[in-house]
Amino acid sequence: MKVGFLQFEPFFKEKEKNLQKIEKLLENVNAELLVLPELATTGYAFETKKELFPLAEPIPGPSTKRLAKIASSKNISLVFGIAELDESRSSCEGRDENNIYNSAVLISPRGSVYKYRKIHLFFREKLIFTPGNLPFEAIDIKGVKLGLLICFDWLFPEATRTLSLKGAQIICHPANLVLPYCQPVMQTRAIENRVFIITSNRTGIEKNYKFTGKSQVVNPKGEVILKARQEECVKIIEIEPKEALDKNLNEYNNIFKDRREDFYFK
Ligand code: ACM
Repeated sequence: MKVGFLQFEPFFKEKEKNLQKIEKLLENVNAELLVLPELATTGYAFETKKELFPLAEPIPGPSTKRLAKIASSKNISLVFGIAELDESRSSCEGRDENNIYNSAVLISPRGSVYKYRKIHLFFREKLIFTPGNLPFEAIDIKGVKLGLLICFDWLFPEATRTLSLKGAQIICHPANLVLPYCQPVMQTRAIENRVFIITSNRTGIEKNYKFTGKSQVVNPKGEVILKARQEECVKIIEIEPKEALDKNLNEYNNIFKDRREDFYFK
């Protein structure tokens, strides 16, 4: 299976320009699964919910529909981050009352749309976004199970563990990383769950945030098998997702069956 990431620097608050940039970067892509960064269509450094409202949109909505065209024409599954407007409140309560989630969308080549709402909000995101309220799920696309995480979820081993226990073989991780720890930590997350992890990070600077780039694909042995620096790029590698189904470390140790849940803090 050909998988990879698109690493780029979004224009802050310029949704149309970002969609055009993504479309251009994807023009010649030849892959089956591609992960884009967190908040890929809007940029990151919003200071208030009010500032983000005009750019937030439902899922599916205009950006999802636009990227679904690429997914179907190129026969590729796409994962990307987006500011999701939850329209479930009645209109008489006013648009500003609606929740905004920091969400990841997965679009299959056939146009199925799945979403995950970031559960662990980082720093000032807590002033803007509503914490995610959907369970971690393994999503079957053409017989391979995919899991979704967003950025700061990396710091919570339970997130990757839950996806892996639910059967995810490839964890798709859109990110806007600012701390230097995530990329090496994801090697550990991959080893302890024997899964593939694709982290797609952004680059550039917005206000006080300097994003670290270095998007990567890690295999179930924790090896970084594909890596970017700070460049805007699409990088693809061929993997065998079945490798993530084997949880045996040796003939005596199965990393899931060996878990001693009775002794763990609940
Ligand atoms: C982050 O969660 N965007 C650092």
